Amino acid sequence: MISPQTIQQITSRIDIIDVIGEFVKLKKRGANYLGVCPFHNEKTPSFTVSPAKEIFKCFGCGKSGNTISFLMEHEKYSYVEALKWLAVRYNVEIEETFVSDDQKQQQLAADSLYIINAFAQKFFSEQLLSSEEGQANGLSYLEERGFRKDVIEKFQLGYDPQSGHAFAGAAIKQQYNGELLLKTGLVVERNGNLMDNYRGRIIFPVHNNTGKILGFGARVIGKADKAPKYINTPENDIYVKSRILYGSYFARQAIDKADECLLVEGYTDVISLHQAGIENVVASGGTSLTIDQLRLVRKYTNNLTIIYDGDAAGVKAALRGLDMAIEEGLNVRLVLIPDKEDPDSYVNKIGRSAFIDFIASTKKDFILFQLEVLLSEAGNDVTRKNEVVNQMAETLSKISKAEDFTKQQEYIRQCAEHLKIDESGMTNLVNKYKRDRIAKDEKKLPFEETNFNAAKNDQTAFDDNTLINQDDPQEKNLLKVLLEHGLKKWDEEQTMAQYIISELSQFQFDDPMHEKLFDLYQSQYEQGLEPTAKTLMYYEDEAMRTLVVNITMNKYELSQKWDEVMENMNILNRDTSRQDVVMSVNYFKLRKIKKMFEENQRDMAAAKDFEEQMKLIEVHKQLKDFEVQITKELGTVILK
Ligand code: GTP
Ligand code: MN
Repeated sequence: MISPQTIQQITSRIDIIDVIGEFVKLKKRGANYLGVCPFHNEKTPSFTVSPAKEIFKCFGCGKSGNTISFLMEHEKYSYVEALKWLAVRYNVEIEETFVSDDQKQQQLAADSLYIINAFAQKFFSEQLLSSEEGQANGLSYLEERGFRKDVIEKFQLGYDPQSGHAFAGAAIKQQYNGELLLKTGLVVERNGNLMDNYRGRIIFPVHNNTGKILGFGARVIGKADKAPKYINTPENDIYVKSRILYGSYFARQAIDKADECLLVEGYTDVISLHQAGIENVVASGGTSLTIDQLRLVRKYTNNLTIIYDGDAAGVKAALRGLDMAIEEGLNVRLVLIPDKEDPDSYVNKIGRSAFIDFIASTKKDFILFQLEVLLSEAGNDVTRKNEVVNQMAETLSKISKAEDFTKQQEYIRQCAEHLKIDESGMTNLVNKYKRDRIAKDEKKLPFEETNFNAAKNDQTAFDDNTLINQDDPQEKNLLKVLLEHGLKKWDEEQTMAQYIISELSQFQFDDPMHEKLFDLYQSQYEQGLEPTAKTLMYYEDEAMRTLVVNITMNKYELSQKWDEVMENMNILNRDTSRQDVVMSVNYFKLRKIKKMFEENQRDMAAAKDFEEQMKLIEVHKQLKDFEVQITKELGTVILK
């Protein structure tokens, strides 16, 4: 575990704009910053970051959180990994109270792999550019293929000498651990000795989004007759193939600017296109796309153009990623490069502007492309054509984001036309697939949760009585006030927190999470920890963090009167916290009393004997008194 002191140091230095700005393009809007949400597909920005509250919230998809939860969600880090990322960024030395040996080993391994890779890259580049062998074998080969020196340097290409122990020797001299060296795939063991795995090959470093080296691809020089053309880093703690797009580090700004990402197969395709000035390009490494790779693309753009060599294998591989890409809300287009060429050779052949024109004029919408392929396969076979209709309807049903509705309609129209079927029939079929999937998804939810959602949807109407009729906004509002004003002074004797805690001693929260937060606040307060929304937002329990963020981010407009009072106070430039506290506490109590009334009423109806009835009537009277008293108190606040 990371020590509380360290966490405190880290959280006090966090600049949420700086951190989120690393991943999302943010523009200042008043007190907040606005950007396109990285968690769902949208065109108009509704992703809001508040530097004052250290919170982000998307008003489109509802996702919200703090800097840590952003890193956890966006980078798929664990809580501890996110803290460590921040510690590195803000130069905080991490003090750990207890780390399991496993965890320690894993972290050390990842760090060491990066260090070894960085060392290896420098070594290989130096060999390529400065050694005699590197220049004669490696550099001359690359130059023969037309790669410019500046591009070779930009992509940090390298060369591993023929001898077979040049790199291994240098690494051992640096005292790198043998086991770790084996993990990087840079060396292999032969008869008890470490040998270079990439001897005599050109080295292509593979960078992550921030430019750190995850691993390498190593290509034989010339034709690959005996050995495999490429050797790639084996999967390890940092090289996870399904999450890597080669070139993303060099392409991200260009992708953002062009609002389009070109996807090719190979390392050399990326580099050649770069050299031609087409920089919005990444490579998949020749395998079908994974969901993580698609999400990587979607950080920058919704427009993915897949460029494949015109062979059947490439096209089949491309088609496999289709439905996933659609679910991710990407607009996918396909370009086939003609006759045995690949993007590298083709751009060298026809030049930059012809290549750009070629892409623009031949790129074909992926869905319609699929339709054509399937239809031509089906020929005149009625059964198979029927299958095509169903398959297309299923694909189209996955376009589910609200803003893509028009897009879906247009596809339905075009597909119906191609398939020569009725458009409304196609619409029905698409909707049927949609319903089936929703039903399937709901089955996955536990019973209570579906019921809970249904109940929540029923309560959409918000009237002036909301205050008295709903527990949820009541409770959240009170907690919000507690988090915001708790540490302020109530009177000479106590703080607002103490006042609220003592006022609430006879009442309970209905929502167990609310109760838990209240208890947590109270216990931290009593330990002198001075809890606030900002500190509790870094609490270890994720559900709690989410709750705190939701509470601070939302405005609980409970009654018109309340708003009027607050507005008047603001005009007078007075501190509203006191009124806020009184009103929140009293409305909270009023709501709970109202509930007790209802319960009492039910009990009375069910009461069997006279004595019991009398008791209940007594309770009723007391509640009534209580109510009058609270209403009066509220009245004075409102009238003051
Ligand atoms: P050049 O032939 O130098 O132009 O390379 P390329 O990048 O065009 O390679 P190609 O189109 O043949 O393959 C595309 C990608 O698939 C490469 O960049 C590699 O990532 C991967 N690949 C190709 N050959 C091999 C191989 O033999 N083994 C492995 N593991 N991967 C390969
Ligand atoms: Mn090639």
